[in-house]
Amino acid sequence: MKTIHQTAVFEPREAGRNIVVGPYAVIEGQVKLGNNIKIHPHVVISGLVEIDDNVEILPFAYIGRLPSTSPAIKQSSENYTQLTKISSGTVIGPHAIIYAGCQIDQECLVGDAASVREKVIVGQQVIVGRHVTIGPNVKIGARTRIVDFAHITGETVIGEDVFISTHVCSANDNSFATGDNIILKGQTIGDRVHVGLGAMLLPGISIGDDSVIGAGSIVTKNIPSNKLALGQPAKVIRDI
Ligand SMILES: CC(C)(COP(=O)(O)OP(=O)(O)OC[C@H]1O[C@@H](n2cnc3c(N)ncnc32)[C@H](O)[C@@H]1OP(=O)(O)O)[C@@H](O)C(=O)NCCC(=O)NCCS
Repeated sequence: MKTIHQTAVFEPREAGRNIVVGPYAVIEGQVKLGNNIKIHPHVVISGLVEIDDNVEILPFAYIGRLPSTSPAIKQSSENYTQLTKISSGTVIGPHAIIYAGCQIDQECLVGDAASVREKVIVGQQVIVGRHVTIGPNVKIGARTRIVDFAHITGETVIGEDVFISTHVCSANDNSFATGDNIILKGQTIGDRVHVGLGAMLLPGISIGDDSVIGAGSIVTKNIPSNKLALGQPAKVIRDI
């Protein structure tokens, strides 16, 4: 059974059973829908997108968004034809934006107004909090939690069972986007790392497995595994 509101545009490539689509939702392009899917009012799903079974997408979310191009930003004119995939049991919050080429694994929660840029790979049962912003080409391991208002810079790799607290911020470019040969360097964060609230992670640093970064720290150098590091700049103060 399908319950499609009369104001919705419902033109998927393929659709399973028990799909509910609310008013003014738009589902177009090469979209493939599984079974038991609830798409709330004003959701947009476009491009090459697969939504697996038991997914719920709350009002005004946008799945498959293409990056904007403008003379004002240096962005390659790459053709984003990669699949955007939302796996089973995942919930996408209201106003969240999932760009083209992202793959969100099973049973994740993407919070209200989160923005996940293109080609981000998210493991299962990850929580992306409210208003979190994630740059392009980030990888996030299973069960990791990223709390509200954190910013994860592009090209970062985050392990499994990591906790990134609220307002953590990270950068991947010491040239401030000047010059022609900008090399972006995200962070490499090991498994079970905890990053305290408001910490800042500078380009290219790594944090080893099981380490803890104190609240408000500025991480300017690599932190080995199993250490507590604190301060500005962050220094290792003891083993965990
Ligand atoms: C890192 C942290 C876990 C350390 O806790 P702890 O082991 O109990 O450490 P203590 O409170 O005993 O502090 C040890 C010393 O480090 C200092 N210190 C603790 N946290 C610090 C920080 N973030 N930055 C600078 N110094 C810090 C303390 O003042 C104390 O100094 P002293 O020995 O001169 O008195 C804790 O301070 C912290 O930053 N927690 C983050 C909490 C958080 O972000 N939660 C998630 C919310 S979404």
